[in-house]
Amino acid sequence: MYTIDHSHTIMSTKARVFSTIALQSILLTLLSSFVTGENQDFVRTLDRNLHGFKKEKLTHFRVYWHDIYSAPNPTAMPIVRPPSNTSATLFGSISMIDDPLTEKPELSSKLIGRAQGFYGSAGQEETALLMAMNFVFLQGKYNGSTISILGRNHVFSKVREMPVIGGSGLFRFARGYAQASTHSFDLKSGDAVVEYNFLDLDCLYFISYLSYG
Ligand SMILES: *[C@@H]1O[C@H](CO)[C@@H](O)[C@H](O)[C@H]1NC(C)=O
Ligand SMILES: *[C@@H]1O[C@H](CO)[C@@H](O)[C@H](O)[C@H]1NC(C)=O
Repeated sequence: MYTIDHSHTIMSTKARVFSTIALQSILLTLLSSFVTGENQDFVRTLDRNLHGFKKEKLTHFRVYWHDIYSAPNPTAMPIVRPPSNTSATLFGSISMIDDPLTEKPELSSKLIGRAQGFYGSAGQEETALLMAMNFVFLQGKYNGSTISILGRNHVFSKVREMPVIGGSGLFRFARGYAQASTHSFDLKSGDAVVEYNFLDLDCLYFISYLSYG
């Protein structure tokens, strides 16, 4: 998809415009075939016109994020203890995570990827986390591609919105947002299952521009 075309220097402007359009169509076909062609429940293409996007392809993903503190296989570990033992929000504490992302709320369901990164308590008055994590996908054509999420997670709100700030592999130039809502939370262990939905816009214009730069 990113091969450099040296022959473009001898092409006429018309030919270049035509080949750019042709490339865009090929890219569109390729991109839609990998999204719709795979039998995967966690991803679907949306009608971009309904959402007010003209040039871009809108894709919706849904995964379940398992934050597990309890033994025997914790996926979240406190790396900085709260500096003060009087903070109700554990202000200043940080956890490192390598959380499974699954297709269904059950941990035993299909593993879609992992959320690797950390979060810290950034609110003194209310429980608001700073989330900094990469979703690395492990399935099908998405295998190895990542999405980076950085945002505020007000954990006791029903739906929390966080920006998708970029990506790699198939998610190059990704932008969009994630919405998280808690599916279950165990007060005793701290274990949580959170549903993450995110929208991604593929910037086809940038891809073809780079190929023909
Ligand atoms: C809380 O921290 C203070 C000061 O560091 C210490 O004196 C006190 O024993 C701690 N209390 C508890 C319950 O750990
Ligand atoms: C994903 O990629 C890794 C490394 O290339 C490979 O070992 C693994 O089998 C792939 N998984 C799937 C489901 O394709």
